[in-house]
Amino acid sequence: MTTPVSFVDLRAQHEEVRPQIEAAFQDILNRSAFIGGSYVSTFEKDFAQFLGVSEVVGCGNGTDALWLSLAALEIGPGDAVITQPNTFIATVEAITRSGALPLFVEIDLQTALIDFASLKKFLVEQCRREDNGRLVHLASRTTVKAIMPVHLYGLPVDMEKFLSLANEFGLKIVEDACQAHGAMHKVKGELKRAGSLGAAAGFSFYPGKNLGAMGDAGAAATNDPELASKMRWLRDHGSSEKYVHAYSNGWNARLDSLQAAVLGIKLKKLDEWNDRRRAAAAHYQEELAGLPLALPIEPDYARHIYHLYIVRAESNEKREMLRKELSARGIGVGLHYPIPLHLQKAYETMGFKRGDFPISEESAETGLSLPMHQALTVEQIHTVADACREILG
Ligand SMILES: Cc1ncc(COP(=O)(O)O)c(C=O)c1O
Repeated sequence: MTTPVSFVDLRAQHEEVRPQIEAAFQDILNRSAFIGGSYVSTFEKDFAQFLGVSEVVGCGNGTDALWLSLAALEIGPGDAVITQPNTFIATVEAITRSGALPLFVEIDLQTALIDFASLKKFLVEQCRREDNGRLVHLASRTTVKAIMPVHLYGLPVDMEKFLSLANEFGLKIVEDACQAHGAMHKVKGELKRAGSLGAAAGFSFYPGKNLGAMGDAGAAATNDPELASKMRWLRDHGSSEKYVHAYSNGWNARLDSLQAAVLGIKLKKLDEWNDRRRAAAAHYQEELAGLPLALPIEPDYARHIYHLYIVRAESNEKREMLRKELSARGIGVGLHYPIPLHLQKAYETMGFKRGDFPISEESAETGLSLPMHQALTVEQIHTVADACREILG
């Protein structure tokens, strides 16, 4: 019988910071101030410093953070935002909630990130600059305003290239950094944090993320103080001051003190925890080498933080066999994500069909997430790799 290996281990993570969290909770209980306040503003300042941006706006979750970014950029009905089909639905929900139309561009199979060449081709062939300066998507007649690349699984897109393409076409970049806390990419040879270079970026602090709260939480990051103050108003019912409401699309999207306190404590451990994930990924690469599985790659420009460690099997049948057999042995596995968004019932009115994004579909059908977290041991990786070898051998 194989020793079970869990997919994530939040209990082990919390044991490392339990005394600090208990002390912060006591303090908050004594003060009984739960929404906003100094824990929120301190975390916002600390996370901004960590990312190397001037502004962080804490909010309710990552979906809110992406929506706040789009809403503050005044992207709405009649506009379109480009993203990829194989992401968590929240990426696209944020776009549709802003009132804009999501436009899908195919991914690169090896990285599962939006494919740069396809993006360029899409902009050149499917969009046209009109005399009034609008970049129009020809099929939908919407105005393309932004690209929302997803730094999926903890691997950032090559922002240097994306920024120059966005500049060329007059587009904003809103980064979906919900899986990329602390990931890096090179810009002019220098490593910068994912989420620090777009017009804005959204982070999720869902408990299982590399930086996770003890409930739902999120943050938007930007270097534009005006955009940040607009996001601060929008997250609090559009109010510039108490009971003075400046925006009709305001919402309740605030961050609470308990979550901010947890995040501030865990932020101090984030680089160390990411390093441990990177070491775990390096062990996986060694242990899984030679098996009929495509392993994750780390391109030269990037520093991957392995939010998820995803391998690809040779076919859907082999992936399913591996998934079932590993689960039967008590090894936690996941599918990220089993149905690409263009094939989801939620978006059937968009009129897509199977075969429209074949690489995204292949990625969904053959990818398998193996256990990955900050407390994963060499022995556990060995157990997972041994099981894969037995099942595939
Ligand atoms: C890629 C991506 N985008 C957006 C989100 C939304 O974040 P949240 O669940 O905090 O709203 C997530 C979180 O799971 C995500 O993985």
